[in-house]
Amino acid sequence: MFISLEGIDGSGKSTQARLLAEGLHAAGHEVVLTREPGGAPGAEEIRRLLVEGATDRWSAETEILLFTAARRDHLERTIRPALADGKIVITDRFADSTRVYQGATRGDLRGLVDGIHELAIAVEPDLTLILDMDPAVALDRGLARGSGEDRFEEFGLEFQVALRDGFKGLARRNPRRCRLIDASREPAEIARHLLNTVTQAMR
Ligand code: ADP
Ligand code: TYD
Repeated sequence: MFISLEGIDGSGKSTQARLLAEGLHAAGHEVVLTREPGGAPGAEEIRRLLVEGATDRWSAETEILLFTAARRDHLERTIRPALADGKIVITDRFADSTRVYQGATRGDLRGLVDGIHELAIAVEPDLTLILDMDPAVALDRGLARGSGEDRFEEFGLEFQVALRDGFKGLARRNPRRCRLIDASREPAEIARHLLNTVTQAMR
């Protein structure tokens, strides 16, 4: 089973991806926990080009190509081999992030995003858990980390509000694959909800 976690910056994806991996492991499953951009050595190198530096470092079009290059490497080196071994793959972000961050917020690039995805990736998760919450609270959480990887957070609150709308739209249009999760709750409560959702989807 291939699971992705999606949502705006600071919505708790990394926290919940880890808790979900622990929960599934405790239930006897073999789990690979991974992330984008990154998740394989080459893709992690591309990640640094994307998450560090000035907000205007790349055009949206160039970003789409870099994220897709990283995703292709991640798919070849990490995701496909793990799925072939019968493991559950949990990825912190996948193609929906490109659809929303590059496709919906800066000009209408969704056609380009979809075309490149079909040509280079053409894979969707079995289940996508979208963590939904107030962007102002999420932004405070994210920037408070001071990770030095804040290039996208630096676009500001208005951008995060547009992203949230983008993720909600995706959830509406893909009701079989996507679940919208209330991420404003306590971490342990969200984790229980996610584990139940995944367990039900596996049946
Ligand atoms: P993301 O991967 O979506 O950017 P993180 O999991 O890194 O989000 O969480 C961002 C920050 O918010 C971290 O400091 C984390 O400890 C904190 N956090 C995560 N989940 C919650 C929650 N449910 N309630 C309050 N704080 C949280
Ligand atoms: P991530 O490390 O998940 O950031 P955060 O923990 O703040 O949520 O991702 C790095 C940034 O890259 C994040 O701001 C979202 C952005 N991103 C895109 O713009 N497009 C993409 O396709 C992906 C995978 C990420």
